[in-house]
Order: sequence, then structure tokens, then C-alpha cells
Amino acid sequence: MHTALRYDAVARLLHWLVVALVGAQFVLGWTMPDVHRDTQPVGLIAAHLIVGTALLAAMALRILWRATHRPPAGELSGPLRVLSSLTHGALYALLVAVPVLGCINASSRAWPLTLLGVVPLPALSPAGSSFGHAMGDIHGVLAWALLALIGLHVAAALLHRFVFRDRTLQRMALW
Ligand code: HEM
Ligand code: HEM
Repeated sequence: MHTALRYDAVARLLHWLVVALVGAQFVLGWTMPDVHRDTQPVGLIAAHLIVGTALLAAMALRILWRATHRPPAGELSGPLRVLSSLTHGALYALLVAVPVLGCINASSRAWPLTLLGVVPLPALSPAGSSFGHAMGDIHGVLAWALLALIGLHVAAALLHRFVFRDRTLQRMALW
């Protein structure tokens, strides 16, 4: 396929890196121990924090890249084009909001955050803050909204591939 019909290599790499990190976050979020007042951020919880901050960094890069590089011209028209833009916009919004809310919650528990275990990150809320505590609940709820949108997005990708039989899926193919 002509390369100009695909997203550029960096956009494709970041798309699939974020997919992998988000997948890991759902598995970790659902399998890590319940978080209570005195829970320490070790084991699977520590992994959820490390992968989560890496995801946030990948999203920052991705948004910068997207803002400075045009995607390939699309073949969609009319309502499908609008639906696709809305879904992509909402995916971007939730891919930032869910991790940020998680970080706010972690800070309210006085859990230190680092980028890849090396670079210390600033706390996003004061320790003990009830606002930060509430954001933990919203983190869990919005994670479900993100999952629903991912379901819609993946269903659309499969529809393009197997029903419309167009080239949409190849636009994001890793190689
Ligand atoms: C897209 C990325 C993320 C997803 C999909 C995700 C998903 C989840 C899920 C499913 C839970 C369990 C919720 C529940 O059982 O009610 C959870 C809990 C939690 N997550 Fe995340 N998470 C993400 C990013 C992050 C980040 C970046 C941080 C912080 C650095 C974080 C910190 C937490 C904390 C502290 C909890 C426990 C909240 C509580 O029970 O009060 N998460 N996450
Ligand atoms: C099997 C899983 C997936 C497939 C096959 C897939 C496929 C695609 C394709 C083909 C596009 C380009 C659509 C176009 O421009 O016409 C795309 C874009 C996008 N995907 Fe996925 N995707 C998958 C999973 C995910 C997941 C899990 C997320 C979120 C975590 C996600 C987030 C996005 C976003 C935000 C865009 C918009 C890119 C942009 O234009 O900036 N995708 N995906």
C-alpha cells in the first residue's frame, strides 16, 4: 500500500503502544488488591502506577505528534466521518482524564509517583484530600466509559475490515 495512505510510523507506533499500556492497566486495575485507607503501593498496585504514568507520558507525546502531523486523508464521508471524529476525540479525552484522575487519587493517598520509576512527578493533590479521594471513584467509572468506547472503536475497525472491506484498518497497521 502507498505509504501516504497510512498514518506515519510514529503515529502507528504510539497508537499500538497506548493500546498495550491501556490493556495492561485494565488487567492490573481489576486484579490488584482492593485499595483501602492504609494500603501501600506495592506489587500489582505499584505496577498500575508505573504503567499508568508511562501511559500518560505516551499520550502527551501522541497529542503533540498529532497536533503537528496531519493524518492521511480519510475515505469516510457524512455521518460516519462525524461519528469517527467524535469517537477519536472522546478516546483522546478519556485517555488523558482516566490516568490524571488516577494520579490525583494516588497523590491524595500520599503515594509518590515517578516516570518509569526514575523521574519523580509532582503530587496532583494534597495528601488526605477528600477531593482526591472522590476522584478515585470517578477514575473507576470513567475507566468503564473508556472500555465502552474502545469496544465501539474496535467494532468499527472490524466492520471496515470484514463488512465494508475497505482499507481503513490498514491505515493503522504496525507494519
Ligand atoms: C487508562 C489508564 C488507566 C486505566 C484503564 C485504569 C483502570 C483502573 C481500574 C479498572 C481500577 C479499579 C477500579 C475499581 O475497582 O473501582 C483502577 C484503580 C486505581 N487506579 Fe487506575 N487506571 C488507569 C490509570 C491510572 C493511573 C495513571 C494511576 C495513577 C498513577 C491510577 C491509579 C489508580 C488508583 C490509585 C486506583 C485505586 C482507586 C480506588 O480504589 O480508590 N490509574 N484503575
Ligand atoms: C484491535 C484494536 C484496534 C484496532 C484494530 C484499531 C484500529 C484503528 C484504526 C484503523 C485507526 C485509524 C482510523 C482512521 O483514521 O480511519 C485508529 C485510530 C485511533 N485509535 Fe485505534 N484501534 C484499536 C484499538 C484502539 C484502542 C484500544 C484505543 C484506545 C486505547 C485506540 C485509540 C485510537 C485513537 C485515539 C485513534 C485516532 C487516531 C488519530 O486520528 O489521531 N485504538 N485505530
